[in-house]
Order: sequence, then structure tokens, then C-alpha cells
Amino acid sequence: MQLIKASNEDLQQLVYIVNQAYRGTGWTSEAELISGPRINLHTLLEIAGGTATTVFSAKGADSALLGCVSLSPATDGQWYLSMLAVNPAIQAGGTGKAIMAAAEKFAVEHGATSIKISVINHRDSLIAWYERRGYRKTGATEPFPYHDPTVGKPLRDDLELITLTKLLPAI
Ligand SMILES: CC(C)(COP(=O)(O)OP(=O)(O)OC[C@H]1O[C@@H](n2cnc3c(N)ncnc32)[C@H](O)[C@@H]1OP(=O)(O)O)[C@@H](O)C(=O)NCCC(=O)NCCS
Repeated sequence: MQLIKASNEDLQQLVYIVNQAYRGTGWTSEAELISGPRINLHTLLEIAGGTATTVFSAKGADSALLGCVSLSPATDGQWYLSMLAVNPAIQAGGTGKAIMAAAEKFAVEHGATSIKISVINHRDSLIAWYERRGYRKTGATEPFPYHDPTVGKPLRDDLELITLTKLLPAI
């Protein structure tokens, strides 16, 4: 598995993979919390075309698109990792762990000292998965963007985003 900057062709496929991973049938699906798509092509192209965030494709040995992850560098060394997704057809086979390891390696090689992620409360199995990767809850929370129609339709009124961080080893 290797991470490479997503091409526009990849982004079109990633819309499907991200929506299936977050809102479809995967083992960490959030479909019972939020309905509708997680992302659309317009938003994804905007994110990938900007300077704040790089969207990476995860490609298998045969160049098949397995999933993706985004990294947003920060001057204080705490990079933000988001939009981690693995095609549900191949989930629970180690790809998510490989993407996280590659993203952390890339970040540390480019100056990151820690990584921050935001996860919706109630996603217990996903939070446990991150904790097994060394991420720890900071106690900080952010409000769920209830008024942003691009993130889908929330199905309950007690959603919030919890923050987890991980210190990266120095190289
Ligand atoms: C979270 C995600 C990236 C993980 O990728 P993955 O390829 O499925 O996960 P991996 O195969 O690398 O990891 C499997 C681990 O989860 C465990 N696991 C697998 N299926 C499970 C299940 N049904 N319930 C609980 N744990 C499970 C495995 O035992 C293994 O445990 P380990 O951490 O002790 O090794 C993927 O499920 C995904 O795309 N989720 C939807 C998008 C999302 O929520 N992204 C994060 C947003 S913050």
C-alpha cells in the first residue's frame, strides 16, 4: 500500500468510497447517526484544490484505489488528519492500519510532532480503533456542524466532535 496525492480521477472514485465507508455498510459506518452523503465531488475538489489540506489516495500493489486520508499541516507541528476511509469491500483486512501508519510516517518526515483527529461521540468502536493506534482523548470537544447541509442529515441532537491526539516519534 502506498499513499500518493489524489488525482482528479481518483477524487471522483473517492466520493463513492468515502460515502460508502462513512454512510454505507462498513463495520464503523455512521449511518445510524447521520443520513445522506458524507461528501460530494464539488466539496472534495475544493478541499483537494486548496492549499491547507492534501488528499492522499491509498493504492494497492496493482494501483487499485483502496481508500484515502487527508492531512492538514500546522505551523505548531500538530497536523490534522481527516477523511480516513477504506473501501468497505476490503475493510477489516489491515488497510486502515496501513494508511494510518503511512500518513503518520509522511507527517513526521515533513515536520509534524503530533496528529489531531476529530471523531463523532457515540462512534465507540471507531474511537477504540484509534485508541489501539495510540490516539488519546484530550477532553476537548467541538460542536457538530448541525447547520452545514454538506455533511449530511444528523439523526440525533446530541452529536459532538471529540478530539484525539497522538505524539509522533522524532526521526
Ligand atoms: C476506520 C477504518 C478506516 C478502519 O479501516 P479497516 O481497514 O476497516 O481497519 P483495519 O483492518 O486496519 O483494522 C482492523 C482492526 O479493527 C478490528 N475490527 C475489525 N472488524 C471489527 C468489528 N466489526 N468490530 C470491532 N472491531 C473490528 C480488528 O479486529 C482489528 O483490530 P486491531 O486494531 O486490534 O488490529 C474503516 O473502517 C473506515 O473506512 N471507516 C469509515 C470511515 C471513518 O469512519 N473514518 C474515520 C473518521 S474519524
